[in-house]
Amino acid sequence: MKFRAESINQYNEFYTESMEQTESYWAKRAETFEWFKQWDEVVSGNFNDLNVKWFDGGQTNITINALDRHAKNTPDKLAIIWESNDPNEEEIYFTYSQLLKKVNQFSNVLKNQGVRKGDRVCFYMSMVPELLIGVLATARIGAVHSVVFGGFSAKALAGRINDCDAKIVITNDEAYRGDKIIPLKNITDNALEDTPCVKTVLCLERTKGKVSMQAGRDQWLNELLANASTECEPEVMNSEDPLFILYTSGSTGQPKGLQHTTAGYMMWASETYKNVFQTDDDDIFWCSADIGWITGHSYISYGPLLNGSTQVMFEGVPTWPDAGRFWKTIDKYKVTHFYTAPTAIRALEACEAKFVEEANLSSLKVLGTVGEPINEEAWNWYNEKVGKKNCPIVDTWWQTETGGIMVSTLAGVTPVIPCHATLPLPGVELMLVDTDGKEISGNPAEGNLCVKRPWPGIARTIYGDHERYRQTYFSTYPGYYFTGDGAKRDENGNYRITGRVDDVVNVAGHRIGTAEVEDAVNEHKEIVESAVIGIPHDIKGETLMAFAIPFKQSANAKELLPTVNTLLVDHIGPIAKLEKIVIVPGLPKTRSGKIMRRVLRKIAANELDKLGDTSTLLNPEIVDEIIAAMKK
Ligand code: PRX
Repeated sequence: MKFRAESINQYNEFYTESMEQTESYWAKRAETFEWFKQWDEVVSGNFNDLNVKWFDGGQTNITINALDRHAKNTPDKLAIIWESNDPNEEEIYFTYSQLLKKVNQFSNVLKNQGVRKGDRVCFYMSMVPELLIGVLATARIGAVHSVVFGGFSAKALAGRINDCDAKIVITNDEAYRGDKIIPLKNITDNALEDTPCVKTVLCLERTKGKVSMQAGRDQWLNELLANASTECEPEVMNSEDPLFILYTSGSTGQPKGLQHTTAGYMMWASETYKNVFQTDDDDIFWCSADIGWITGHSYISYGPLLNGSTQVMFEGVPTWPDAGRFWKTIDKYKVTHFYTAPTAIRALEACEAKFVEEANLSSLKVLGTVGEPINEEAWNWYNEKVGKKNCPIVDTWWQTETGGIMVSTLAGVTPVIPCHATLPLPGVELMLVDTDGKEISGNPAEGNLCVKRPWPGIARTIYGDHERYRQTYFSTYPGYYFTGDGAKRDENGNYRITGRVDDVVNVAGHRIGTAEVEDAVNEHKEIVESAVIGIPHDIKGETLMAFAIPFKQSANAKELLPTVNTLLVDHIGPIAKLEKIVIVPGLPKTRSGKIMRRVLRKIAANELDKLGDTSTLLNPEIVDEIIAAMKK
């Protein structure tokens, strides 16, 4: 395959070339895409001006590269095998030529609803084929998709819709998720009470559950699609035109809408997929993520399709009807490349061994993980029980902001080291810094992980708030992109990600900002103030706990927990539920009033000898009181 690193030497050559001859390195790769017009300049801008542009002056459309060229060259090749939540419901196959027609129909539906280039289209759906098709259709007509994960609440959905001023929302009646049914349309209806920007709702019939349709606003998507033409010319997009917005949590404030643009993102999704996974023509790729997260964007909607691969798309969950679902599905379709999250691995490891042992799994060639650090036990289990010690594991480190994988083993090409993401991909120049912002050179080293120069896939801005973008990522270490993660580098330059060093918690691979959770907890009528931290959890990696100051010190934490959780489900969604609450008389604060979560984390971990200097706190006496409360 063109420009795929196939040996360690070639990886080294590519890496050096990407650093030293950046322009020609990327220009060669850009030439493998189809363009309406060639770019003028490969890359411009930097981490000081924050006006990064890739392939500026060029014009293309990501869907001609993901669909049309394969529909022309390999029309009958399978693009998508869709596996339902219910193992007894028949699977659906789409060849590249069929997928293109479906995308064209959806594109025409959007156009007929008045969606124009640049408009924001919000998707709040489950993993039905129409989600993937709709996302591609949005890109085809030059509109901007904003997919909201179907597990978020009405309030969270409304916040995201309003932030990006979406004029249309696409949902399904209800979602199947294991043995649960999620009333997506009802939740959408509730969200839309506070979203004046939305004029149209398209609803896909999936479960045939009862929903109410508002005249003048809501229409059934199935009928519109069936009657739409299968021809639709792709919109001509400038390289830097926005492709999508995706919301993610940070250490402060409400979720941020990261905006990715057309050509750079296309390059990054495509190149990283090709080099990391190393799929060949007959391989079957399966990324088990939801398209509501960045992993689903880059390694379902775009990366595999840009490379003309065949992939499985799965509507269900790993543990339903039983804990053998992933393994049976791998056998059913002879999946060769399987990409999932450590949380899912740990959850399945905790189930009876027979589920994985009864499966054949001999089709597997490569395994991948993403989203959070993987512990050794889970890594070994994945390697032995699933990969039969025969499949390289690619531990891929990246973020919503990075657009695609940044640090990873290239399967079968560069070394695998358990629990290590290992080496940066070509184009990625990393740096570890100490807390003063000084680069730590030499190996081994440990520090905060930064990126030194722009790569094609970096999000260009936070939608509507470029200053927040600067502040969040480029102000801690001016001139560098700060990831928010800590990392170790070994003697040979291999990276191991140690986790977030800011106030972001990774619960079951989902990013949650402690500030958003606190905002919701503090609305509880019995709570004055709270501080939320992440604590270790056997399966979810981390889970949330709150230290709360109640109006009445006699309040009972166990009794408060369910009502606080109801509030969190309402404000954010089930992923934000607390594991426990500890009632405290006060919170440790700096003189400027900031909560010192570091102290709380140490108290929660019972690492009392590592509290550090607490004498500078505004209220140092509170520390002993919190320790006492924790012990109760
Ligand atoms: O802390 C890192 C963790 O997930 C964060 C990014 O979350 P999100 O934007 O939701 O994207 C997740 C999917 C790409 C990172 O800051 N993370 C991601 N991958 C890994 C990881 N931590 C350790 N190892 C990984 N492979």
